[in-house]
Amino acid sequence: MPDGSNSQAFVEFDRVQKSYDGEVLVVKDLNLAVGRGEFLTMLGPSGSGKTTVLMMLAGFETATNGEIRLGGKEINNIPPHKRGIGMVFQNYALFPHMSVAENLSFPLEVRNIGKSEREGKIKRALDMVQMGDFGGRRPAQLSGGQQQRIALARALVFEPELVLMDEPLGALDKQLRETLQFEITNLAHELGITTVYVTHDQTEALTMSDRVAVFDDGRIQQLAPPDDLYEKPQNSFVAQFIGENNALRGTVTSLSKDRCVVKLDGTGEQIDALPVNVAKEGDKTLVSIRPERVEFNPDLGENAHTLDAEVMEFVYMGDVFRTRLKVAGRDDFIVKTRNRADQVRLSPGEKVKIGWLPQDCRALDP
Ligand SMILES: Nc1ncnc2c1ncn2[C@@H]1O[C@H](COP(=O)(O)OP(=O)(O)O)[C@@H](O)[C@H]1O
Ligand SMILES: [Mg+2]
Repeated sequence: MPDGSNSQAFVEFDRVQKSYDGEVLVVKDLNLAVGRGEFLTMLGPSGSGKTTVLMMLAGFETATNGEIRLGGKEINNIPPHKRGIGMVFQNYALFPHMSVAENLSFPLEVRNIGKSEREGKIKRALDMVQMGDFGGRRPAQLSGGQQQRIALARALVFEPELVLMDEPLGALDKQLRETLQFEITNLAHELGITTVYVTHDQTEALTMSDRVAVFDDGRIQQLAPPDDLYEKPQNSFVAQFIGENNALRGTVTSLSKDRCVVKLDGTGEQIDALPVNVAKEGDKTLVSIRPERVEFNPDLGENAHTLDAEVMEFVYMGDVFRTRLKVAGRDDFIVKTRNRADQVRLSPGEKVKIGWLPQDCRALDP
């Protein structure tokens, strides 16, 4: 199992590739193990292959190469309805001509579950999503959020061990989305359901998931718990995609196991960094520093180093100050400082020194 998950693998992708046209691989070489009971999110920009992966797991698309396993058994050739997987999609509409209860009854009838047992399961599923009184309504008589709750109940009603969700909250407003994010994760953990969730919204991914697989260009760029993705990005794509990031370009001039020196493009200043994704001296690199890890006129001890900077813009944001600086010849360097009584407010044109701890400065691929 990849680190971050201590449970047994339930879903496994083993060297899976997918091409729709026989030429371009939209999923390039997927190796992924999802633990039993884990909430795993695939996060990435549009077109990165997330839905394709989910469709192969659901059985609506076939893998071009590789093996997909569920509970240790290969499922490549098992049809969707025999995989026992619950699904919620943004556009996976409820049947409009059926009542809510009939919508929930459908997946049970397909599985030949008798009438009295069906009624008990439908009631339980509706109660779970706090829609117990709505069984007689038609979908058109419900709000968007209520419809999405019913879609969730319909995915859970036959008690699947695995639920797949593809941008299920994409059409809802922010407040409702946050409420449902909370309800979905609670429910999944309470019921011990394994969940594979897809979103392009990083906040959603970070707040809901046990682990997040960041996708780009048909590949997992990093698979890690949310805090690791933010604190320890393994490459420039992840550093830029997750949260706000400062990226300084330069060249590695010396390299040991846990330190490297980078000569910055522009001014030629030298800084220490943690070598994360550089191979040798002379390599081009992008060093990544989070805006809240930077200090003004720092007193970080002898391990730190400082750079000269000029204030371009100082923005009061209530809880934080956001300062844009010119550093190493570029004027897009951001520093965030907490609004404290003793915090000096800066003005455009002021010259300051900035610094950070070398371990907060990660040398990544250019
Ligand atoms: N049914 C399909 N036929 C051909 N190409 C497809 C099909 N579905 C998706 N694609 C292509 O595969 C790539 C990945 O798409 P998709 O898995 O939908 O990405 P995501 O869900 O991350 O936005 C895109 O380039 C998309 O155009
Ligand atoms: Mg998609």
